[in-house]
Amino acid sequence: MLCLGIETSCDETAVALVENGRLLGQRLASQVDVHALFGGVVPEIASREHLRVLPGLYRALLEETGVRSEAVSCIAVSRGPGLLGALLIGLSFAKGLSLAIGAPLVGVNHLHAHLLAAGLERDIPFPALGLLVSGGHTHTYAVHADHDFRLLGRTLDDAAGEAFDKAAKRLNLPYPGGKLIDDLASGAEPDHGMFPRAFIDNDSLDFSFSGLKTAVVNHVDAHPHLALPSLAGPEALAPEVRAELAVVCASFNWSVADTLRIKTERALRRVPEAKALIVAGGVAANSMLRATMAELAGRNGLELVLPSPSLCTDNAAMVACAGERLARAGFYHGLDLEAVPRGRKVPLDWVGLGA
Ligand code: KG4
Ligand code: ZN
Repeated sequence: MLCLGIETSCDETAVALVENGRLLGQRLASQVDVHALFGGVVPEIASREHLRVLPGLYRALLEETGVRSEAVSCIAVSRGPGLLGALLIGLSFAKGLSLAIGAPLVGVNHLHAHLLAAGLERDIPFPALGLLVSGGHTHTYAVHADHDFRLLGRTLDDAAGEAFDKAAKRLNLPYPGGKLIDDLASGAEPDHGMFPRAFIDNDSLDFSFSGLKTAVVNHVDAHPHLALPSLAGPEALAPEVRAELAVVCASFNWSVADTLRIKTERALRRVPEAKALIVAGGVAANSMLRATMAELAGRNGLELVLPSPSLCTDNAAMVACAGERLARAGFYHGLDLEAVPRGRKVPLDWVGLGA
């Protein structure tokens, strides 16, 4: 099977080709620089950029891989959750192509695609516990199969990535600042008392990160020299301020990673049959979180399934990978496939091939 993946749910436009679980090639255009000017993603601009670059990316992918459009046997498209206008660009492109070449459609849940991304690099044993940590979501799932995800816990307010980005914004780091906080923290020892680990003294599997974000804002308000002068990089800081900032970043990083550790370990008790722990989404690229989850998996006798950092952030390879797995299991969609905005549940509305 040769599966095309299309990703336009947020601010990355991406296409990829996967054949029998192997990535043949991918093309990605990031809009990060455009949105950074506004300190966050502007939905209308995101849609327009997807529309502008998607056809060119597809042509370049075909050229790079030497694949003809007609050879594509299934078209997988990220159908939500995401920005509605942005999703509609990918869906319309996928539907047009499906009509033109006669290949069937598979609508892919973007969040499930993140958790299946590692399938391009290794086997994923099921059942597994899945932790999805991205800019918009923090979810734990019991994952029984490629198409069988049962939600266990979710964030009640900010997602983990959102907390990273908002803390970074208060420090005047450019959007999205998660990776920069990770980099700035490297080499520093976290101060475990500096920031709270919110909503852990309860039985809930849900997360809350908005209090942590406020704690960082309050800390920087009290120590304003920590915020970078506008348009300057960290190299503009005096070495002692840079060292102080590193401890702040490491401490924040630790509070997020340790909160995720506590809740993930708690969720694991609900899935005692789990053989593996899958950690995915943009924040899964975080070095402290990767180390924390490796330790947790080792201690609980679980295989750790972590995509390479480049497969953690939004990409189309994960969409093609998830789509191919669904198509193999007989799960397809018709041309009436709907986009699902953030906040709405993605329906299990597959139809069989030819239905
Ligand atoms: O999965 P993703 O690319 O997009 C969504 O579907 O949301 O995740 C993006 C998020 C952003 O919040 C970004 O700051 C965060 O992932 N991120 C990181 C790192 N790399 C990306 N957060 C912490 N450490 C990183 N190394
Ligand atoms: Zn994502």
